[in-house]
Amino acid sequence: MNTGIFQTSIGNDLAIAADWLRQSELVAIPTETVYGLAGNALKEESVLKIFLAKDRPRFNPLILHVPDIDAVKKYVLGISPVMELLMNTFSPGPITFLLDKNPDLVSDVVTAGSSKVAVRIPAHPVTQALLKQLDFPLVAPSANRFGYVSPVTAAHVYEGLQGRIPYILDGGTCTVGVESTIVDEEDGQLIIRRTGKVSMEDIAKATGILPALKTHAEDHPVAPGMLKTHYATHTPLYLGNATDTSALAAGKKVIIMGWGSKESIAASYHFQGTTILLQVVSLSNDCRIDEVASKLFASMRNADNLGAEAILVEPFPNEGIGQAINDRLQRASVLH
Ligand code: TXA
Ligand code: MG
Repeated sequence: MNTGIFQTSIGNDLAIAADWLRQSELVAIPTETVYGLAGNALKEESVLKIFLAKDRPRFNPLILHVPDIDAVKKYVLGISPVMELLMNTFSPGPITFLLDKNPDLVSDVVTAGSSKVAVRIPAHPVTQALLKQLDFPLVAPSANRFGYVSPVTAAHVYEGLQGRIPYILDGGTCTVGVESTIVDEEDGQLIIRRTGKVSMEDIAKATGILPALKTHAEDHPVAPGMLKTHYATHTPLYLGNATDTSALAAGKKVIIMGWGSKESIAASYHFQGTTILLQVVSLSNDCRIDEVASKLFASMRNADNLGAEAILVEPFPNEGIGQAINDRLQRASVLH
């Protein structure tokens, strides 16, 4: 879909970014999780451009980004004590809250018709400074073309959106590397709609309440499965134990990803003679799970550019941010 032809530039000039946003144009912004594709949340024209630039279906609602808790309060009808506790504990940071929206200010285009709006206070200093300069909030989905891996550098954004947006605000490489945790509340029960850096364990510790995990409906409650290849590389990715995926990839050119030494990663796989091992990628030499998260999307993008026929990866321990890593890999995987 053509959204107008821009000469996309990359820079770190807040005034330029703010200027484009005031004109209802889109700017890619750095956050601690992934880069966002931002537009003026209060201008329908601007919000609609986001769906066009990303080729994103209109039924997928957007996250409102604001500088602080006072700004959150403006756009919602109320915040329950437990949600406020979470906000005070983890914001600014990699967490998003689903709250009853103020329908006078938040349009149905932002929330895809839902009475709840997703709100997040990003911690990245560049985007914090930008939000403070603006007198409107930003809506910002991840700045990738719909369905592809989220961007964690300005160069990743450029790859996907060049010509479609005027400006990419460069804030370096995103430190967390996976999208924010999304927390909802229904009848007093906390629900995780998307896993992220702020883990189930973190939330339980802060509130004394063990949240429920209901992530299947994240993308579209009435069309489950439609978006199962979200976050996917073009090269088929196989998430599974090494013995199974070695067999599935027989005769193919493969890349294997894992953690620890390359030797130890390779030792888990047993390839037949005709299989060609193109590369072994360690996401963290010393098995640090936060480092795996921060390198995951860049490594998936790199692996996608090497002419491989399969990317093989084993699940990581399913705790803390490992849960978010496994979720993204599962969504990218051809095995369901
Ligand atoms: O870390 C992040 O959250 C990044 C950065 C840029 O802030 N943003 C991000 O946005 O990941 P996006 O659009 O790629 O993912 C937002 C998710 C979508 O899956 C959407 O369905 C869900 O949030 N969401 C947004 N508003 C919602 C609502 N009103 N009700 C339910 N889910 C909602
Ligand atoms: Mg996204």
